[in-house]
Amino acid sequence: MDVDVRPALASDLPFMTEMTATAAFWKDDAPSTRVDELMESPDLAHYIAGWPLPGDVGVIAEADQPVGAAWFRFFTADDPGYGFVDPTIPEVAIGVRSAWRGQGVGRRLLAALITAASEAGVAALSLSVEVDNGARLLYEQLGFTRVGEAEGEITMLLRLET
Ligand SMILES: CC(C)(COP(=O)(O)OP(=O)(O)OC[C@H]1O[C@@H](n2cnc3c(N)ncnc32)[C@H](O)[C@@H]1OP(=O)(O)O)[C@@H](O)C(=O)NCCC(=O)NCCS
Repeated sequence: MDVDVRPALASDLPFMTEMTATAAFWKDDAPSTRVDELMESPDLAHYIAGWPLPGDVGVIAEADQPVGAAWFRFFTADDPGYGFVDPTIPEVAIGVRSAWRGQGVGRRLLAALITAASEAGVAALSLSVEVDNGARLLYEQLGFTRVGEAEGEITMLLRLET
């Protein structure tokens, strides 16, 4: 089945909340069951709560239904994401439904998000990935480099041409 990549809309909030759980509980076989847990955790809920906030940009991969999402959001030093670098650099979140992984969907989503970030005049994107998550390979392939590491989490950064 063909997969299209389109801009994320306000109506994508429920799916993106599921994808936030997919990213946060990536070792879990059934992350969609963790959505309630996610929304009770401020450190996780702030990646998606109130979507779309000013500055938020996202993309959705869609077959007959959404199968993946990638987006970025700006954070502050008072309320940082796990991959916080500074308030001018938004942080990426990404997830693909398990049945659709390993088919290039994540790469297309992240590439589209990088393009959207450049078009929005964003100077760089950051993200956080656990050291043992293979997603790190994808980030490295698209140019992200390691800028920090603490407690098993790597912070990666991609500087953009604006
Ligand atoms: C990470 C994720 C978004 C990647 O999406 P995907 O559609 O599976 O990725 P792609 O098929 O586009 O893979 C692109 C590259 O990423 C690498 N990659 C991605 N995830 C990987 C994994 N878990 N293990 C090993 N390599 C992986 C591969 O090297 C692949 O390159 P290749 O095609 O040359 O082999 C998806 O696997 C996912 O949702 N995982 C669970 C949630 C998660 O971990 N989110 C990130 C939290 S930081």
